[in-house]
Amino acid sequence: KYTKGYFMPPVSSLKWTQKENITEAPIWCSVDLRDGNQALVVPMNLEEKIEFFQLLVKLGFKEIEVGFPAASETEFTFLRTLIEQDMIPDDVTIQVLTQSREHIIRKTFESLKGAKKAVVHLYNSTSVAQREQVFRKSKEEIVEIAVSGAKLLKQCAQETEGNFQFQYSPESFTGTEVDFALEICNAVLDVWQPTEDNKVIINLPSTVQMSMPHVYASQIEYVSDNLKYRDSVIVSLHPHNDRGTGVADAELGILAGGQRVEGTLLGNGERTGNVDIITLALNMYSHGVDPGLNFENLPEIVAAYEKLTKMKVSERHPYAGELVFTAFSGSHQDAIAKGMKWREEAEREHWSVPYLPIDPLDIGRQYEGDIIRINSQSGKGGVAYLLQQKFGLDLPAKMREHLGYAVKNVSDRMNKEISTDEIHQIFMEEYVNI
Ligand code: KIV
Ligand code: ZN
Repeated sequence: KYTKGYFMPPVSSLKWTQKENITEAPIWCSVDLRDGNQALVVPMNLEEKIEFFQLLVKLGFKEIEVGFPAASETEFTFLRTLIEQDMIPDDVTIQVLTQSREHIIRKTFESLKGAKKAVVHLYNSTSVAQREQVFRKSKEEIVEIAVSGAKLLKQCAQETEGNFQFQYSPESFTGTEVDFALEICNAVLDVWQPTEDNKVIINLPSTVQMSMPHVYASQIEYVSDNLKYRDSVIVSLHPHNDRGTGVADAELGILAGGQRVEGTLLGNGERTGNVDIITLALNMYSHGVDPGLNFENLPEIVAAYEKLTKMKVSERHPYAGELVFTAFSGSHQDAIAKGMKWREEAEREHWSVPYLPIDPLDIGRQYEGDIIRINSQSGKGGVAYLLQQKFGLDLPAKMREHLGYAVKNVSDRMNKEISTDEIHQIFMEEYVNI
């Protein structure tokens, strides 16, 4: 029933497999207010969009796609509010999305009046499926849609005051023959004639993920290596997450030549979402690469995200989930407790505590209550660690073992988690109040 469904460039051309790691952060562009917002059950209202925008600015985003201003009244008003109330910091560039249709492009520029600078993001769909089923147009006709839109963007930018940068996305890139995607991007570049002082962004979306991540990376490398005006082009990635591999797409895509990543906080976005920038950035951080974004208070970001999107972050969400730094099982707790002690004994340059990929404190998580929690799966090491941390009690080996079993039995019998205060109470009953 299913065919291969993707287009792989000739394997002999691939170089990205030779690279070991990402060495520098890409340019980040948040699409929370556009791709993220358009996928919500109830899209954000004006006040919520403003609050989300301010959060993104606070986190250090310098490029923010604020919406599709020609698409709805709220989107238009939101952009007008940002501009008229001077809410866009000088070092932040807003981005707006537009289809390649005359009245939409004109309305988009109308919404931008008074903006000091902006990226205008033009897209049209290029995949075989969309060409055949949705547009019923030939490849030539699809190129013409992109080229005529590109020309009009150029004209409107000349007629409107402000500093405009252009971006083009062959939407449904991953379902498009790579050589045709390259052809259409080059045709748009020929219209825009980018220079080193006025670069164009070519954004290559996995609108729907159709392959394993190495295929996306290979498509990126092929287009990136064969684009015209290459030094004046920024290659941007826009992974979605249909196969659960948005982060892998972005990571391999960066190795393959991607210089910029569009994504969202915690992976909100159409269907299974856009790539989660927090996971991607913290993966880099864990390898010693400064992501250039500030996630030092992740619990606060999660709370704001849940309030504004009205969605829940899963307990297992990388870095952000409530349980992702928590060990319940005895052997994990024992190793963590020993690792923490080893760390306390000397200044250690690198973080290497077993079972904890990064230091939870770096992103605003706490040791107490976050890393060791006790239930019937737990062991003496975890129980002793908590008593030591909260009550300064250093138990001798035999007592640890005995207390460990006592606590485990209580948890098993009551089928519940046992807090540190309850452990202390059991300790008192076993050894003090007898
Ligand atoms: O996923 C996608 O293809 C998009 C485009 C508009 C860039 O969101
Ligand atoms: Zn998208």
